[in-house]
Amino acid sequence: MDEKIFERVDNYISDISAQEDKILSDVIKSLAEENIPQMSVSANHGKLLQVLMISCNAKRVLELGTLGGYSTIWMARALPSNGKLISLEIDKHYSDVAKRNIKNAGLSEKVDIRVGRALDILPTFIEKKEEPFDFIFIDADKPPYTEYFELAIKLSREGTIIVCDNVIREGKVLDDNSSDEKVLGVQRLNESLRKNKNVTATILQTVGVKEHDGMVVAVVNRLSK
Ligand code: SAH
Ligand code: DHB
Ligand code: MG
Repeated sequence: MDEKIFERVDNYISDISAQEDKILSDVIKSLAEENIPQMSVSANHGKLLQVLMISCNAKRVLELGTLGGYSTIWMARALPSNGKLISLEIDKHYSDVAKRNIKNAGLSEKVDIRVGRALDILPTFIEKKEEPFDFIFIDADKPPYTEYFELAIKLSREGTIIVCDNVIREGKVLDDNSSDEKVLGVQRLNESLRKNKNVTATILQTVGVKEHDGMVVAVVNRLSK
């Protein structure tokens, strides 16, 4: 099938229900101007994050991987007035660009960007007994996705929704002999879901303006402590 059809249908859908305003399109422009890779979620996926956030009454949101703040802005816009979003980003340059974009969106009050390695920062949240998050979006580097997912569960309550981006990778997850560390990382996470009793999960396969990919969508079960 002509791949253009997926792109055209994605645009048809975003025209109906995920129109980008200038603030969001300026984020995409800022990435191009700053030579930052275009790895933001699509507009329709930004809207999907909002729908899922609202469905679990999300007031406290955690994101792993800010980039220029495109997904951050979609999510922060779905927060109630007293809502908070913490986003972790390893790259100082990216976080500076994101902070500028978030300020431009008028969301600096709600969004807290922390610069550092997610694997260093997340354990400090557990140590400090940080209040559980209602919604967690995992979209940082792929090799430690399983560790991120396990830490995310520790930072959750019953009913928290956890979404993990890019877990199908154009179908490369089917390759049992892959040596691509990103593929190996998401394969390990996907396989771990078979026996993970702490979540009710599925993987949503996606096509559209971005490459063929997929997202884990998981709800945290009652946790046996
Ligand atoms: N969520 C963004 C896209 C994120 S791209 C959006 O949709 O708009 C992945 C981001 O993860 C990059 O900015 C990268 O610098 C960051 N990243 C990579 N390794 C990381 C790590 N160990 N800890 C935190 N962030 C990391
Ligand atoms: C990559 C990372 C992403 O978060 C994404 O949405 C697309 C690609 C990557 O590292 O290849
Ligand atoms: Mg991604």
